[in-house]
Amino acid sequence: MWDYSDKVKDHFFHPRNVGVIEAPDGVGEVGSLACGDALRLMFKLDDAGRIADVKFQTFGCGSAIAASSALTEMVTGMTLDEAAKITNRDIADYLGGLPEEKMHCSVMGREALETAIANYRGEKGITEEEGELVCHCFGVTDRQIERAIKENGLTSVAQVTYYTKAGGGCEKCHPEIQAIVDRIIKDTGGGIKRIPVAEKPKRLTNIEKMKRIEETVEREVRPMLRKDGGDIELVDVEGDTVYVALRGACSACVLSGVTLKDFVQEKLREFVVPEIRVEEWSEKEE
Ligand code: FES
Repeated sequence: MWDYSDKVKDHFFHPRNVGVIEAPDGVGEVGSLACGDALRLMFKLDDAGRIADVKFQTFGCGSAIAASSALTEMVTGMTLDEAAKITNRDIADYLGGLPEEKMHCSVMGREALETAIANYRGEKGITEEEGELVCHCFGVTDRQIERAIKENGLTSVAQVTYYTKAGGGCEKCHPEIQAIVDRIIKDTGGGIKRIPVAEKPKRLTNIEKMKRIEETVEREVRPMLRKDGGDIELVDVEGDTVYVALRGACSACVLSGVTLKDFVQEKLREFVVPEIRVEEWSEKEE
């Protein structure tokens, strides 16, 4: 599992302000389901021009939920000028830090807020502003990459991927991202200051890993499958490969492959280790 702070876990398990506001004053949508993360943020102002109500809907990992929830708590009661000053680092700091590999969730939160404010003001948000598309897999422009580099002191393509997702697919955009990194480092005379992020998680023992797999299946996976009349059986674990069997309605479902990879595997990657692979038991037996 990622080394999440207690505050991240709290916001993930008890997210604040999830939902929809009827007739909001501003709405911002960023990301896309095709890219794995999407966030919709909306707010309503009171008569004094302060954010009186703010809600979000997200499809993303635990840290995306935590970052969005934290952001709603942070901006409540602020004027739009105050809210517009919030950076992705502020969101991560509010949560007691995020693993560097998950910093894109804080960036997504800030971009959604910025887009919602721009929507209220009749302007364009950064994701809609002109800029050259650099990463076609994740729809990230040079302006978004430049800003992430400057605001977070990034010095490598891998870090740009952690903060923006750009470069996390086919990798064709890596040379272009590297050129942007090099240009900004040159422009600043190499004076980019790295900003510390949460430390990397320590390696799990096999027993710890097994325990977390079981806990995650019990807490995160099984209840959801049972809602649809299905179930899951944990059959075996070999290294980072987890063999499972879907039961009940899930076993006959034509989307069982999607359930395994997009739901079960993602949950285990989120809560156990990012290298986990989930396979159906019958595949192993063949
Ligand atoms: S174009 Fe950037 S990862 Fe594919």
